[in-house]
Amino acid sequence: MRVIETVAALRSWRRALPGTLGLVPTMGYLHEGHLALVRRARAENDHVVVSIFVNPTQFGPGEDFAAYPRDTERDLALLRGEGVDAVFLPPVEEMYPPRFSTAVEVGGVTERLEGAARPGHFRGVATVVAKLFNQSQPDRAYFGQKDAQQVLVVRQMVRDLDMPVEVVTVPTVRDADGLALSSRNVYLGPEERRAALAIPRGLFAAEAAFQAGERDAARLRAVVMEHLEAEPLVQPEYVSLADAETLEELTVVDRPALLSLAARVGRARLIDNVVLGEG
Ligand code: PAJ
Repeated sequence: MRVIETVAALRSWRRALPGTLGLVPTMGYLHEGHLALVRRARAENDHVVVSIFVNPTQFGPGEDFAAYPRDTERDLALLRGEGVDAVFLPPVEEMYPPRFSTAVEVGGVTERLEGAARPGHFRGVATVVAKLFNQSQPDRAYFGQKDAQQVLVVRQMVRDLDMPVEVVTVPTVRDADGLALSSRNVYLGPEERRAALAIPRGLFAAEAAFQAGERDAARLRAVVMEHLEAEPLVQPEYVSLADAETLEELTVVDRPALLSLAARVGRARLIDNVVLGEG
């Protein structure tokens, strides 16, 4: 497995590759959710490159950029075990040299939910993902449904800017107890970890209500909120039930819909979602 730290070295590695390339962008501190993306990329491409870069431009002031968990040696060992061909591990100055002054601003889907809660977040995400696409020129790139709005933002960017990359969405990987895997779960103490289970409980209860025929969006949001509010350690930020494509809030669930939420549990800000009425 090649460990590549510069754009120039990544480009020359890429140029010499026969066959297709799958890219898995990450911020490291890898878990089974990331590895599900890697395995899918492995299955669908001749070669796989994983990027590990904690992207400063997608963190707001007062967010956890400095504290974001990092363990490069462990990450590299996991990726070696998955048969990854190369890991791109650029220093911050390689991605953002002095006088860097361009950004990719995606409109529409960025205005709501995480975009509203974290101003500038998706500008940072779109910019770094555009750079990673240009640097590695993948045939396919892999993103997790856990960050559902991020997938919509990347798809919009690829469409609008004619990027020759196929975006593949991979289902959310959960722990046995239902909590979605996240690098930020490391912030949770044992009590908080237990309280955080209100998040999947609420989402699954609403999903069950939907499957039993409930189509009133306010009632479905309320099902989730009741579970969150039952746990004093969980502070809900939003519960949204929106059109799965446009993210416009729904009154009646009459089309594929994204039921998503953000909540604080201790130091951690957690997000999760389920899709209702897909396919
Ligand atoms: P990061 O949070 O490290 O996540 C990397 C990828 O793993 C994302 O596509 C994310 O959706 C996916 N992922 C995380 N947890 C998952 C889970 N439990 N199940 C399935 N997939 C999961 O998302 C980012 O990094 C950054 O914003 C990035 C795209 C790398 C740009 O900096």
